[in-house]
Amino acid sequence: MSSESTPDVGSGPPGSQDVGFGIDVGGTGIKGGLVDLRTGALIGNRVKIATPTPATPDAVAGTVRQIVDKFQWQGAIGITLPAVVRGGIVQTAANIDKSWIGLDAAAMFSAALDGLPVHVLNDADAAGLAEDRFGGGREQTGVVVLLTLGTGIGSAVLNDGVLLPNTEFGHLEVDGKEAEHRAAASVRAAKDMSWHHWTKEVSRVLKVIENLISPDLIIVGGGISREGAKWIPLLTNRTPVTAATLHNSAGIVGAAMLAAGLTAAVAP
Ligand code: BGC
Repeated sequence: MSSESTPDVGSGPPGSQDVGFGIDVGGTGIKGGLVDLRTGALIGNRVKIATPTPATPDAVAGTVRQIVDKFQWQGAIGITLPAVVRGGIVQTAANIDKSWIGLDAAAMFSAALDGLPVHVLNDADAAGLAEDRFGGGREQTGVVVLLTLGTGIGSAVLNDGVLLPNTEFGHLEVDGKEAEHRAAASVRAAKDMSWHHWTKEVSRVLKVIENLISPDLIIVGGGISREGAKWIPLLTNRTPVTAATLHNSAGIVGAAMLAAGLTAAVAP
């Protein structure tokens, strides 16, 4: 288990209504933390525990419980999964254990947490909600697309802050190949691609997305966005692209926003 400090945005202590709790379930780590819902900042340290292998629903629920117990949190909880989630039910499992498909994850987590209310949403949708409100998209009106470039590619689409859930642009076919098999950060690492070569692939994906929905801004997230200065200037698509700013807390923050009912979105 590890704790990591996060920057303090210095807005005075939040009241209890202003505090939410989110958990972000990723392929390598499960992270949770308290969120100041007025600013999108984490309150104190987040807790990260390695994702169990295999990451079956029971094993993940056990880890989620450990994190919730650590904070002694008693309210509604938002939890992300790297999957399409509709009405709490998991629909896909591109990069997670197939046993999640068809599961009512919201009910399962709630049962593992002694009945606490749980809201489950797609990981990129959570990051998009947070980045749009508090991060790279906070000055932007209109249509914002967030892409997380990690093991796979996740996507979120927001129009004036309202989320269109479960867009899954990572699985768009781009010139005969799935977008995430072309341009995820994992592809760059596996093939040892230069920034120039990999950015060409990212540009191809962005062009398909902008031809489909003409966004006003594209935010790129995932660990590789920390190195955005090296590759964002190399992109050749037409829509402005900016790096995510909340980095590895975006999923936690977006999950907490959903659980607190602080999204203009229809709950996914
Ligand atoms: C999944 C998405 C997820 C993304 C990032 C994709 O393979 O289909 O649901 O958001 O990976 O984790």
